Amino acid sequence: MMSQAFSQMMVSFLLVVVSRLAYLAYFSPLSNIPNAHFTSPFTRAWLIYQKFKGCENRTRLSAHEKLGPVVRLGPNEISINHMDYVCELFNDKSFTKTAWYPNGFRGWKSPILASLTDPELHSRRRQLMATRYTNISLQKSAQLHMIFENRVSGVFREELQIWASTVATIDIFQKSKACLMDIITAWLYGIDHGTNFIRDVDEERTWSTDLNGTFEGFVSRSEFYWFISALERSRLFIFPWMIRTENSQRRLQDWSLKKCKHVQESSGDDIDNSLCSQFRQGLEKTEPAGKVESLLMDEMLDHCITGQLPTGIIVSYAVWELAQKPEWRERLHNELAHASDASNANSNLSPAAVDKLPILNAVVMETLRVYSSNPGPWPRFNPTNATRIGQYSIPAGTTISASSYCLHRNENVFPQPNEWRPERWLKADDRQRSAMNRWFWAFGSGPFMCLGSHFAILGMSF
Ligand code: HEM
Repeated sequence: MMSQAFSQMMVSFLLVVVSRLAYLAYFSPLSNIPNAHFTSPFTRAWLIYQKFKGCENRTRLSAHEKLGPVVRLGPNEISINHMDYVCELFNDKSFTKTAWYPNGFRGWKSPILASLTDPELHSRRRQLMATRYTNISLQKSAQLHMIFENRVSGVFREELQIWASTVATIDIFQKSKACLMDIITAWLYGIDHGTNFIRDVDEERTWSTDLNGTFEGFVSRSEFYWFISALERSRLFIFPWMIRTENSQRRLQDWSLKKCKHVQESSGDDIDNSLCSQFRQGLEKTEPAGKVESLLMDEMLDHCITGQLPTGIIVSYAVWELAQKPEWRERLHNELAHASDASNANSNLSPAAVDKLPILNAVVMETLRVYSSNPGPWPRFNPTNATRIGQYSIPAGTTISASSYCLHRNENVFPQPNEWRPERWLKADDRQRSAMNRWFWAFGSGPFMCLGSHFAILGMSF
């Protein structure tokens, strides 16, 4: 009797499983979309495996090259690789960030701009800083001009001369990050409270070690959020990185909190103009008093990280490419020498003048294109409405993502896409240039596009 009931239960269970699998593979609205892997209709396991291996973008690219601009990655997840679809989706306000963002940033005390998923709240928060980061306002900013004078013409050039006269090996990545950190912190906290990582090598090393620590376990945290947070709540640190990440995060947050407090206790034009002071004023008008301090601390810390890491990666790759291509080194050198003579100044070029140097611009754009330092993939979803992507109908709730790594490798727009060829930006006719600009996605697009894109380009160019 018992065994008959058990067999019936097993049969019903198997029937449910088989019909679910058949639905996912043949009847789900996503079943018409080519599968990146034969398991994609049933599970995300293959995708997660690629993330752990660190080759998610390369795998996506080869799937798109074989199967077209829309591929299925999981039961409820697709990847797109065409600018028409990217523009449609990423510019549409009803598509928002998925839980991947807050899960990935979970160690942070407060929801920062980059991790906010509520569109209303995100837009209000972004407004508090957006005007400070527009191209026009950065180019006109006397504060920024002064920062470049102080940090680049002053400290960095002196250091360059020392390096040029020694035979010691210089770690360009570490030095680029240090210089960019000195620039971004002077912008955030004022010149007097900014870092001096170019010279203070020990402090730089400690900070960078902590930063690397916060990235450990990122894939586990963002993909297995419930599991990892349950472990953390129970204080079961079964993976060694869990303790390291928590400690590193705490030290960086303490560092940021201290900087914000110093700014609050100081005065002067430089302090009043700092992003930290201005963002604090905005938060005080829009957020409950008890939340201001931790929101400010986390947001400023995020700008420190994005201000030095993706930018430092690009500067290092540009130096690496230029080191191997003397003709580009010479062209760049001539352009800069000519521009300095024309500006008739002993000091730095202004941010506006730097913006108008075609060779420098081509070098920066091409490095960002080939070595996108923040390539994604960036996931979005529409919680309530179904949508169409080309010939496919996509149900509400489907995760849709795109990455600059894949978009920047479209051979029709960027011939020989893996090659670093700045001349493509100089020789392009109007039609080619507009196609290249359209497919250039290093900073994303739409309401969640990179807030610091113009700052990044200026910082890297200087
Ligand atoms: C080469 C340098 C940089 C690259 C390649 C880069 C790339 C990106 C990308 C692709 C996004 C959008 C992610 C998404 O769609 O979810 C983003 C967002 C963001 N970036 Fe950058 N970024 C860079 C530098 C900076 C700098 C210098 C800052 C600020 C100082 C900054 C601040 C931000 C912020 C606050 C967001 C979140 C924007 C929002 O959600 O509204 N980034 N960045």
